[in-house]
Amino acid sequence: MLFGSKLTLQGINMNGSAVHGRLEGKVAIVTGGASGIGASTVRLFFENGANVVIADVQDTLGQNLANNLDSTNTHVCYIHCDVSNEDDIVNLVDTTVSKFGQLDIMYNNAGIMNGAFESILNTKKTDLERMLGVNLVGALLGAKHAARVMIPNKKGCILFTASCTTKIAGISTHSYAVSKHGIVGLTNNLAAELGSHGIRVNCISPFGVLTGSDQSEEKVRQFEGFMGAVGNLKGGVLKAEDLAKAALYLASDEASYVSGLNLVVDGGYSVVNPTLMRASTR
Ligand SMILES: NC(=O)c1ccc[n+]([C@@H]2O[C@H](COP(=O)([O-])OP(=O)(O)OC[C@H]3O[C@@H](n4cnc5c(N)ncnc54)[C@H](O)[C@@H]3O)[C@@H](O)[C@H]2O)c1
Repeated sequence: MLFGSKLTLQGINMNGSAVHGRLEGKVAIVTGGASGIGASTVRLFFENGANVVIADVQDTLGQNLANNLDSTNTHVCYIHCDVSNEDDIVNLVDTTVSKFGQLDIMYNNAGIMNGAFESILNTKKTDLERMLGVNLVGALLGAKHAARVMIPNKKGCILFTASCTTKIAGISTHSYAVSKHGIVGLTNNLAAELGSHGIRVNCISPFGVLTGSDQSEEKVRQFEGFMGAVGNLKGGVLKAEDLAKAALYLASDEASYVSGLNLVVDGGYSVVNPTLMRASTR
């Protein structure tokens, strides 16, 4: 699609050829859309014909992404939104509906992480509250206000990013694990309530993937070397783009009867007990 002299990516893949718009005519919000998994999802949703609203607190990054995809911000725009602030969420959802006329997909992906496993004895109440405020309360508020505008339309798709910590214990802080287990519970409870309104609710649980601003060659090499060595599925490592593809599937009509699912994208890691497996194959 052409806007002025700039060729945008909507309906066009990275090689410049036309792609089938699996989200043609749909309107999506992606929270945490300025970086990492969210940014990859914004690009893929847009390539597949959706109008996309990027919601984040990293204003420069978010606005730049919107401008790069669509210089006129006709089909992709950025809205500042701290997901832990309900007024920001109300503004995000209402501005989206007044700009695009509807909301079909609400991807509550924004999240914060706080490092590797540490003892309960070192868990600070303030860290727990901050983690829950963004990862869980923020996601719940996003779902609440999306449901408000989706229920009258009798359709919609609500997505969350949970984590493989919902399947594998001992690899994150307790605060993070609690926040992501909460997402799985919320997904199930919402799927139960909103099914009668034609709204599907699912979450995606990624294995470790390198995201954020430090993507130096050395960091990528170290991270991918480690994940390649520990991962169950050999021959590659998980990328943000793989999670975007999972989100695209769940958001599209191909998943029209899928609800209440925690889609674990971990190359089978969480179904294997490597210690027992090694012992039994010796
Ligand atoms: N990277 C991984 O290994 C991994 C694994 C499992 C789950 N996740 C989850 O995936 C999601 C995306 O993380 P990512 O890996 O792409 O990291 P990222 O840091 O690249 O992206 C997260 C985005 O969320 C935004 N954000 C943070 N707090 C916010 C707030 N209060 N309001 C609005 N936006 C906010 C950040 O600005 C950032 O743009 C998170 O929910 C994270 O917990 C990541």
